[in-house]
Amino acid sequence: MNDYTEEINRRRTFAIISHPDAGKTTLTEKFLLYGGAINLAGSVKGKATARHAVSDWMEIEKERGISVTSSVLQFEYGGYCINILDTPGHQDFSEDTYRTLMAADSAVMVIDASKGVEAQTRKLFKVCVMRKIPIFTFINKMDRDARDTFDLLDDIEKELGIATCPVNWPIGSGKEFKGVYDREKKCVISYADTEKGTKEGTATEISVAQEDMLRAQIGDGAADKLLEEIDLLDGAGADFNLEAVRAGDLTPVCFGSALTNFGVEIFLKHFLQMTTTPLARKADVGMIEPTENAFSAFVFKIQANMNKAHRDRVAFMRICSGRFDAQMEVRHVQGGKVMRLSQPQQIMADDRKILSEAYAGDIIGVFDPGIFSIGDTLCSPKEKFRYEGIPTFAPEHFARVRQIDTMKRKQFVKGIQQIAQEGAIQIFQEFNTGLEEIIVGVVGVLQFDVLKYRLENEYNVEIRLDSLPYEHIRWIENKDEVDIEKLTGTSDMKKVKDMKGNPLLLFVNPWSVGMTLDRNKGLVLTEFNKN
Ligand code: G4P
Repeated sequence: MNDYTEEINRRRTFAIISHPDAGKTTLTEKFLLYGGAINLAGSVKGKATARHAVSDWMEIEKERGISVTSSVLQFEYGGYCINILDTPGHQDFSEDTYRTLMAADSAVMVIDASKGVEAQTRKLFKVCVMRKIPIFTFINKMDRDARDTFDLLDDIEKELGIATCPVNWPIGSGKEFKGVYDREKKCVISYADTEKGTKEGTATEISVAQEDMLRAQIGDGAADKLLEEIDLLDGAGADFNLEAVRAGDLTPVCFGSALTNFGVEIFLKHFLQMTTTPLARKADVGMIEPTENAFSAFVFKIQANMNKAHRDRVAFMRICSGRFDAQMEVRHVQGGKVMRLSQPQQIMADDRKILSEAYAGDIIGVFDPGIFSIGDTLCSPKEKFRYEGIPTFAPEHFARVRQIDTMKRKQFVKGIQQIAQEGAIQIFQEFNTGLEEIIVGVVGVLQFDVLKYRLENEYNVEIRLDSLPYEHIRWIENKDEVDIEKLTGTSDMKKVKDMKGNPLLLFVNPWSVGMTLDRNKGLVLTEFNKN
């Protein structure tokens, strides 16, 4: 225990994930209505006028209408201090989502009721399931025609392999949306299209035991259907089990409509009750409890040039234990240095708020003079432990990249290296051919566009990307025992090296991987970069 236990225990830190357009921004805005937003760190994006300003700092986001960067915002509600981590709503950025999830203790998943789990974002949601953190589902847009409720739940169970437990149950949808049945209170909360943008109105609550009143309120047809569904649900649905929720095996599901502000506060309340205080994190010396230790944090995201007016890099870190104050000295373990963090801040789109203190569970951004890498640990100068690293995803698309104006080699190399350090792309070079050409690997093809766009806009370098046919990458685990020069692979195999000089192989198909292993006895290949 330390003196900050109370502050730390009221923190709740979660990521919000959804397919673009499911209503993540709208829901986040409604959350903010319930609490006074205290800090916005490059936060909510939206299409409506005023909302635009806050997180669409990257032009490409505006052009495509997608959010490709994550941001953080903090607000107070009911005694809790809540940190929301926004994630890019596109599968091509699922690696970024994964990193953001590493910094969160739970996730809110927003699903469009007319669409269910969308094919394009399956990967994104799977990333969340992979991290095994509690997921709370909000099925949105019930004021529009929705898919069958049982089908929607089935979809989540099948697609994501996670059991569902409805907290409430919708009565109709679209024009016929009558409200929701609260399973705990056993009553119906009738739908009222409260004025957009205002707090939830006082909804009528009717106990299902008072059948006459229920029928009068929602009509005979809807009442019959509801009573039948309640029977089905109570008989067949998964029982609520907090332990299963916290283990990421069961997701509580709420239905509502973010736009008309129906069901949002109930969801927020349930969510806050079920979610945990900041969790202990794994380090090489064992688990580090948030309340039992001095300050420690890890870097989960690096972002350059967030604002054209400040051409700099910001490292986002999650505080894992203790209290941070701007004057204190900290040890950057990987860099082997004790230092003061420069300009600790909460980043807003066009503005930055200098921060004087923060606690375990909070996210801070600090000025990065190019020393931090994703996964780095910061702790008290007396200690030297390292938090468990953040794995990198194996790239699945490769391209050769050339700068069009060969005079700009320096800017080109600087730009591409900085973008690679942020983890947005991975870069490789030909292995011992003496060629200086750079090969870029990405997890999702949209990252190529982002690279091109950013090099042009931030570094003034035009590039050409020639796509390469490789889809499979393997690092050589026993590189010290293998003579890379003599390695014989298939004709379509390519030898390259990463920025640290580690050799690796690119293949067009899995068959070639197998052939290469057969031809080179003793060779050990791995899909993960452990170097
Ligand atoms: P995103 O962040 O997940 O991409 O979604 P966002 O909140 O921007 O919402 C996408 C669109 O869906 C917006 O409409 C928004 O108003 C609408 N929407 C969100 N929640 C609900 C809901 O509960 N019911 C209904 N009917 N619509 C909802 P838009 O026309 O694209 O933008 P706007 O002009 O309304 O801002």
